[in-house]
Amino acid sequence: MERLDKLLASTGRWSRREAKALIKEGRVLVDGAPERSAEARADPAASLIQVDGEALSCGGYTYVMLHKPAGVLSATEDPRQGTVLDLLPKELRRRGLFPVGRLDKDTEGLLLLTNDGALAHRLLSPKNHVDKVYYARLDRPLGEADREAFARGVTLADGSRCRSAGLTLLGGGREVLVTLHEGKFHQIKRMAASRGAAVCYLKRLSMGPLELDGNLNKGEYRLLTREEVAKIGGKG
Ligand code: URA
Repeated sequence: MERLDKLLASTGRWSRREAKALIKEGRVLVDGAPERSAEARADPAASLIQVDGEALSCGGYTYVMLHKPAGVLSATEDPRQGTVLDLLPKELRRRGLFPVGRLDKDTEGLLLLTNDGALAHRLLSPKNHVDKVYYARLDRPLGEADREAFARGVTLADGSRCRSAGLTLLGGGREVLVTLHEGKFHQIKRMAASRGAAVCYLKRLSMGPLELDGNLNKGEYRLLTREEVAKIGGKG
């Protein structure tokens, strides 16, 4: 049994204050009857809880899209530095979310956070070929020969070989889109270095069918829609 306002807030859809207001307005039904006390307790496994007629799903998996800003770590905790979890409200932090793959501290863009370990494993497994698209700005232009080298698969300074990657030249080649089908440490920076260029700015735009929502400013997040959860193979 959990307090009703806490249960509503734990879905991440409402703050505690908003949850209290919804309850007070009689918009929350427990087993068909309006419950107007935020302190009332309910068991989401035993009772049907509805908000504006829509059944509340508590305890399922959570999928969050974050527009990661530069300067925060893709980790769940760190004793010295801010992590992406620090950008989420307490209600969501309590749910055991972790980032699906890592972006470097100075990389921005799409980061999926979830507590669905099986989905994370599927999205990250190289055999599933989930494309990740990045926008990069470079200190010198890349050209057609670099595009061909990326397509063949470049060899990094440590001798490791990359899979074939897509390179689209924009803005005279100093801006590029890179499509990766794998996720090695600092991969794009090292691939660019193998062609004599340095990455000045890097942003992930998409991961498989999931695209960064253009309405999210840096540091902002939202829950995935039901359609997005279905598209990436999550449990809605
Ligand atoms: N490649 C990089 O070099 N850094 C990232 O954060 C992601 C891909």
